[in-house]
Order: sequence, then structure tokens, then C-alpha cells
Amino acid sequence: MNIILIGAPGAGKGTQAARLSRIYHLPHIATGDLFRAHMAQNTALGNKARDFMEQGVLVPDSLTVDMVDARLSEEDAAHGVILDGFPRNLPQAELFEQLLRRRGWHLDSAVYIAVPVEILVERLSGRRVCPKCGATYHVLTHPPKNDNRCDVCGTALITRPDDAPDTVRRRLAVYTEQTAPLIAYYQAQNLLRSVDGAQPVDEVTRQIQEVLAGGTI
Ligand code: AP5
Repeated sequence: MNIILIGAPGAGKGTQAARLSRIYHLPHIATGDLFRAHMAQNTALGNKARDFMEQGVLVPDSLTVDMVDARLSEEDAAHGVILDGFPRNLPQAELFEQLLRRRGWHLDSAVYIAVPVEILVERLSGRRVCPKCGATYHVLTHPPKNDNRCDVCGTALITRPDDAPDTVRRRLAVYTEQTAPLIAYYQAQNLLRSVDGAQPVDEVTRQIQEVLAGGTI
């Protein structure tokens, strides 16, 4: 099963993808996380991506699609994937179809996590992440058990640099201009499954499982 998660910054794609990965035993592939890992290791790709990410704009499609192509070639992707943050514009969606077709695969569902903009801003301003294992928290709705330390690995949590208010505004604008058209694109292919992302985390997971099983919410 190949699934993509579509949603604005802060919609909960990463939160839900991590849960779906455990439920369906499929790898969670997040392009943002892949870029951040490259940046942390100072690879050539990471250094090319850094400026774009710090500005809150998309990394060029050629870099992104090549990175996804390489990740899909890893063994654990052979039985399906949960993609979080990719594709992110129409050219990426078309190139993604080519990557799948070349492997004899297809996309099963595009899950759209819908969240009103005022909630997105609140979520991003309170988000804290673990720089080591990638676990995500929120100061109000999902605080860590020990003061600002990751529950999983104990590392001190950080605020993502692109969660600064100006960068969040830019990311939301980029989403509206470039990513939101994917909703109609996948709707036209009858692949879109929408859920109410403003609900609590467990309820959003339940809704996603339901729409993936063919139900309506
Ligand atoms: P990326 O890392 O993909 O960021 P994003 O899409 O902006 O999404 P976020 O990670 O900010 O949010 P999310 O939806 O995962 O929400 P989360 O679960 O964390 O991309 C970053 C950058 O990388 C881009 O700007 C671009 O430069 C580059 N990039 C990445 N992919 C690219 C591509 N394909 N092409 C080109 N460039 C690319 O949740 C947010 C907060 O809310 C958390 O604190 C969480 O605890 C909380 N929360 C989640 N769900 C709920 C809920 N139901 N109720 C209450 N709180 C909740």
C-alpha cells in the first residue's frame, strides 16, 4: 500500500505518519526529515537544501525527486510506503507517478488532513522536536514527561528554526500556492481521502484508518 499525506505545515502529517507506520508496518518517509538529516551530516544535498528550508520555500524539484527515488529503492520500501511532505506540487506529483510506474507500483490513497489556519499557527508555535530521534511534542497538547527532554531518548528538545513566525507565514503561503492544488488533482483521480485534522490525535488516526479501509467519515 502506497499512501501520501497532504496537509499544510502543522496539519499533523508527521504525527500521523509515525502512527500509521506502526499500524501498517510500512516505512514513514518524510522529505523534510530526509533533508534535515542531510543538513545535520553536512552532505552536499543538505548544504544545497539548507537555504531553501531556512527561507520556508520548497527545495528544487530535481533534488527532491532524486532523493525520494533513492529512498524508494531501499529494501524496506518494497511493500509500500507512507510519504509525508511529498509530493508537494504538481510537477512533483507527475514525477512521482513516473517513479511508481517504473517500479510497477501505484498510489493507493492521498490522505488530506484538513486543519484551519489559526490552529496551524498555534501548533507550530508550540511544537518542540527531538533533534536526535525526530519525536514531536507540543508545549500544551503533548508536552514531554521530563522538562524539555525527549521521552524516547532523553535528548534536549529544540524549536525547529523554520517554526519562527515569519518563516511559518512564508511556508503557509507556499502551501496555498503550490501544494493545495494537489487536493483537486487527486480528487480528480478519485484517490483523495479527507479527514478532519482539527480533532485530537487519536481521532484523526481513527478517521484515517477508516477512510483507508474504504469507509467515509
Ligand atoms: P516538512 O518538514 O515537511 O514540514 P511541513 O510540511 O511544513 O510540515 P510540518 O513538519 O511543519 O508539520 P506536520 O504536518 O508534519 O505537523 P506535525 O505532525 O509536526 O518540510 C520542511 C521544509 O522542507 C519545507 O519548507 C521545504 O523547504 C522542505 N521540503 C520538504 N519536503 C519537500 C518537498 N517535497 N519539496 C520541496 N521541499 C520540501 O504537528 C505539528 C504540531 O502539532 C506538533 O507539535 C504536534 O504535536 C501537534 N499536533 C499534531 N496533530 C495534532 C492534533 N490532532 N491535535 C493537537 N496537536 C496536534
